[in-house]
Amino acid sequence: MSYLELRHLKTHFTKNTGSVFAPQSEIIRAVDDVSLNLEKGEILGLVGESGCGKSTLSRTVMQLIPATSGEVVLNGESLTRLGPHEVRQRRLDFQMIFQDPYASLNPRMTIFSTLEEAMRQRHPRLDKDALYHKIIVLMETVGLDPAVMKKYPHEFSGGQRQRIAIARALAPEPKLIIADEPVSALDVSIQSQILNLLRKLRDEFQLTMIFISHDLGVVRYMADHIAVMYQGKIVEYGDAEKVFHHPQHEYTQRLLHSIPKLPSTAR
Ligand SMILES: Nc1ncnc2c1ncn2[C@@H]1O[C@H](COP(=O)(O)OP(=O)(O)OP(=O)(O)O)[C@@H](O)[C@H]1O
Ligand SMILES: [Mg+2]
Repeated sequence: MSYLELRHLKTHFTKNTGSVFAPQSEIIRAVDDVSLNLEKGEILGLVGESGCGKSTLSRTVMQLIPATSGEVVLNGESLTRLGPHEVRQRRLDFQMIFQDPYASLNPRMTIFSTLEEAMRQRHPRLDKDALYHKIIVLMETVGLDPAVMKKYPHEFSGGQRQRIAIARALAPEPKLIIADEPVSALDVSIQSQILNLLRKLRDEFQLTMIFISHDLGVVRYMADHIAVMYQGKIVEYGDAEKVFHHPQHEYTQRLLHSIPKLPSTAR
């Protein structure tokens, strides 16, 4: 049994395409029969072009949108069969990191309040001193100086803000992190710092991670396995290096060729 199992997962949407007089609808198969297994502590890279269903798949795994059919099984427990109250409790075990940390952070809350709120989800009765101490440790873990805890998100750079968003995701002590294009909005020099941080955290906390990107190069650097998604389906899956060097599917080969090469590194 794997730690996280996606079994024949489908998420379909109905889109109204007709008019009031001639109503018509079309089914969008955003996630269309996806089966994937992740071991504990593994990073799965999910790659594919815009609109192929990556975010819908992650929201379905998080139980934020209902699966049309199929199952999400975490540590032997089927999440798709739980009631709303249990889902809310389990959701603490899953946290997301998004592309735009500024949009995902509350601009009116200091870093301390943001982390306090996130930490209290798991430990509602933690006393003030213990909480303060935990927040300091957490900030240091993600490479933030605890002296800035009373500042607001707008006072930070993009990279620092992503560190805050990562700290907030870690605060409820999750088991699974889904990072949806976490470095796409950052400068290239900052990207590698954040990628290295995520890998360090995976090792430190044995986190299982789904790392989403449209950039196969970034995914190769991060992931143990790569799944290539195309029009709602996984068209290729395998060892990261193997997929990168010996892509089997024609779509993966096209993705590889679209990675820009700098003149000095082009061969
Ligand atoms: N709530 C929704 N209702 C209807 N259609 C949706 C909904 N959410 C997503 N879709 C459609 O499902 C498909 C997959 O979208 P999704 O956002 O999952 O793609 P993505 O791979 O994350 O793309 P991107 O790389 O641009 O973020 C798209 O055709 C999108 O228009
Ligand atoms: Mg997306």
